[in-house]
Amino acid sequence: MANETRGFTSNIGAILAAAGGAVGLGNIWRYPYMLGQNGGGAFLLVNMFFVLMIGIPLMMSEFVIGRRTQSNVVGAYRKMSPDHKGWTVLGYFGIIAAVLIYAFYSVVAGWTLNYIVMASTGHLSGLEPAEVSEAFSAFTSHSFWPVLCQLLFLALTALVITFGVQKGIEKVSKILMPVLFILLLLMCVRSLTLPAASEGLSFLFRPDFSKLTGQGVLGALGQSFFSLSLGMGAMVTYGSYIRKEDSLFKTSLWISICDLMVAILAGVVIFPAVFSFGMDPAGGPQLVYVVLPNVFNSMPMGGVFAAIFFLLLGIAALTSTISLQEIVVAFTVEELHWSRRKSSIISMLVVFFIGVFCALSFGVLKDATIFGHTVFEFFDMITASYLMPIGALAMTIFLGWFFPKVEIKDEITNGGTLKGKLFELYYFILRYVAPLALLVILISGIVG
Ligand code: TRP
Repeated sequence: MANETRGFTSNIGAILAAAGGAVGLGNIWRYPYMLGQNGGGAFLLVNMFFVLMIGIPLMMSEFVIGRRTQSNVVGAYRKMSPDHKGWTVLGYFGIIAAVLIYAFYSVVAGWTLNYIVMASTGHLSGLEPAEVSEAFSAFTSHSFWPVLCQLLFLALTALVITFGVQKGIEKVSKILMPVLFILLLLMCVRSLTLPAASEGLSFLFRPDFSKLTGQGVLGALGQSFFSLSLGMGAMVTYGSYIRKEDSLFKTSLWISICDLMVAILAGVVIFPAVFSFGMDPAGGPQLVYVVLPNVFNSMPMGGVFAAIFFLLLGIAALTSTISLQEIVVAFTVEELHWSRRKSSIISMLVVFFIGVFCALSFGVLKDATIFGHTVFEFFDMITASYLMPIGALAMTIFLGWFFPKVEIKDEITNGGTLKGKLFELYYFILRYVAPLALLVILISGIVG
């Protein structure tokens, strides 16, 4: 493929596509409940610190690998290390991590489709709290509907992917990301005009460090990697589509700002509402599917806002599933020389085949456990606690210790045309701080 047609057509396209990959269920579904369980604002501050200090340098590093080689994640590591083919394993590692994440992520993404339909047809309205939670369990434990929703979501993603990087990924991101922001702001306005808005906001913004444990700090660190989609080659792949004249630092900075902003705005939507209607902010993973429908039920025009909210969640999930599948498709197109269409369909079927086990692990396969976890929990855990930190750690060691510094500097400064004032700080983080932080996550995951 010729280079000029390979990637994104503009910097804003690159930022929106990569921010779309980063902004996802992690921001709207996972972040609020982790924050709720870990002292609100304290978690927020710690997470912000990690995003800025470690997340951005790691994202830049993945971009360097991708853009330098103009390749999918496997090709990238192969080209970066011509004398030591062993590093190519890292690329395959990324592909496997992406498939496993996609397998369980698409389950929760599929749920949004059901909730969009339920909310917009009024099926969530007027239910008692106990009924809302029963409806959630009844749906997620069903053997057909969640699987169908998952398949639909996979198909929707594959459809975008078949249109290619510019006409599919970039175009869709340029439309959906602004829509996501607008919907989110609309929801914020609704939430901020609720009676106990200030209570919710002070929970979100006033840090209570007494509630933040060591585990909470690690959670904030892990969340920053998960949320920025680091450690599995997503940003290597998208990095290969960034134009040579764009600044990798500014691009990473903007993506991270978008990602943080969506997480914070999701908190602004959720906590005032949760407090206004006397729900538990530490409601756990069920927060958005069980707690929020109750909240919507008790507000005027709640049905409309519920539908908007789940639509927003679905959009956030879709731009992420696109970037997950693109990791695999870029690989099969460039390394196996399959067509884009064939790649999309086959990779979708593979993910579906594995993902079904995740979808069913809330129902018929509830007792089919691996080391005491359901298949869904197991995939979530091995990817977030092991594969992601291992992948990112190996990447920092490769780039920081085995790849020439001058070449990294050349890529980050666009061949010397940018000043790169912070380069030394970046390089220090790449070599020492990030590997250490990743090692701590990894060890605590193994011990805890
Ligand atoms: N960042 C995504 C979210 O917050 C989840 C995610 C993790 C991801 N790793 C990824 C998405 C790789 C795309 C590619 O929901």
